[in-house]
Amino acid sequence: MTIEVLLYRSCMYRRQLLSFLAIAAGAPLLSRCVQTTRRVVGTDGLLELSLTAQAQTKRLAGERTRMLTYNNQMPGPVLEARAGDTVRLTLINQLETPTNLHYHGLHISPEIDNVFRAIPPGERYTYEFQIPANHPAVTAWYHPHYHLDVARQVFGGLAGPLIIRGDLDEIPELQQTEEAVLVLQDFEPTLLPQDPHALARKWGRQGEFLLANGGRNPVVTIPQNGLLRLRLVNASASRIYQLQLQDHPWFLIATDRGAIAAPTPLDTLRLSPGERAEILISGQQEPGDYPLLSLSYDRGIGTMINSLRPIINNMSGVVPPTQTTLATLRYQPSDYAEPLPLPSALIPVEPLPTPAVTRELVLNHGITADSNGFIINDKSFDMNRVDTQVRLNQVEDWKIINKASIDHPFHLHTNRFQVIERNGQPESLLTWKDTVSIQGSETVVIRVRFEDFVGRTVYHCHILDHEDQGMMGIVEIS
Ligand code: C2O
Ligand code: CU
Ligand code: CU
Repeated sequence: MTIEVLLYRSCMYRRQLLSFLAIAAGAPLLSRCVQTTRRVVGTDGLLELSLTAQAQTKRLAGERTRMLTYNNQMPGPVLEARAGDTVRLTLINQLETPTNLHYHGLHISPEIDNVFRAIPPGERYTYEFQIPANHPAVTAWYHPHYHLDVARQVFGGLAGPLIIRGDLDEIPELQQTEEAVLVLQDFEPTLLPQDPHALARKWGRQGEFLLANGGRNPVVTIPQNGLLRLRLVNASASRIYQLQLQDHPWFLIATDRGAIAAPTPLDTLRLSPGERAEILISGQQEPGDYPLLSLSYDRGIGTMINSLRPIINNMSGVVPPTQTTLATLRYQPSDYAEPLPLPSALIPVEPLPTPAVTRELVLNHGITADSNGFIINDKSFDMNRVDTQVRLNQVEDWKIINKASIDHPFHLHTNRFQVIERNGQPESLLTWKDTVSIQGSETVVIRVRFEDFVGRTVYHCHILDHEDQGMMGIVEIS
């Protein structure tokens, strides 16, 4: 069974929400809360729902604009299940083009999480799978992965969070927290009817509007002296966020594939497309409003963009770096007389053993006989070619060399990895990842064990225009 509830975005705590539902199912919406987002929570071991992908005309920043939605929402509903649960999800395609679904962040078989599947317009498909019982608690997300059209569909708005509860949720201090999710998307009203400029395809299309949960600068509340567990999902097609919570401490507690060993204070947090982070915030500062800033970040195209001013205004999908307030953290009075304690330890991250195999993957662009621009090891993606053969349970180091001058965040499906080295320097914090930011001319070493599932899966640049144009490869696990 599955409960579907209306969640008043950022304005009601979970416990209150549950009691509210218990006493007032069907009651009118609270007037102080305007925007709503849906949350679908699995119960009795089953998360069952359907998602309809559809173009909609909606109001955004005062203008009527066309966007792509799941169940009439952008972002799509927050899905929530527990490790061990079964997921039965029917995708109904009411778009004009084929689509499919990828479960970014789940360790499930690539035969189910199959990006080569096409669901034609007007048709539906039911994905059914079990989340492994030992799956870590993660903030994952779902989005379309229909090759050649991924950037347009995700940029149009098709994305939603997928929360798996597990080990981290058992930490006593974390059971005291309020929770919020912020899905970060950028949007450009002209870009759905119109194709992006050629340069936007090359650099990765960006939008001028920065949205959190589909709105501009929403409020996220924190009880005074309480704790807030904030999940961040970068669901943008190309935009890399450099985030800062102004004048307020914040602590990293989990990355893409789950918890880290202990809460770790952050200054700024870089989040590439596809990356997620879980943050713990303690409400023990001076009560007030604290902006969550998206700082100006140059992913290697800033100089080129500046040299093109002022004609840039006519290039749809090309946006210069700027600073924006994404959301506001707001203190609310509470009954806590003393600050709730932060947990001192979370879940240990066991280092992966020494690799049996080492490989190199060179990311680049350029026209070669065998490519149309975006290449890994000199080759553009080919659906019928296996690029990398690996063995189940083997540990490998992948040295990813970005020969280009712009950032190429690298994502591996199905399995998690640890980042070992960046430009020859050991990575300071051991975490579980599935997407890693790689700046222009940077070299990053990741270590991965191919666990539990055989079959063909993919790795690619998560700037989705680059992926669509060939910066992707197939790995076969046998
Ligand atoms: Cu988030 Cu291959 O995708
Ligand atoms: Cu993925
Ligand atoms: Cu790229």
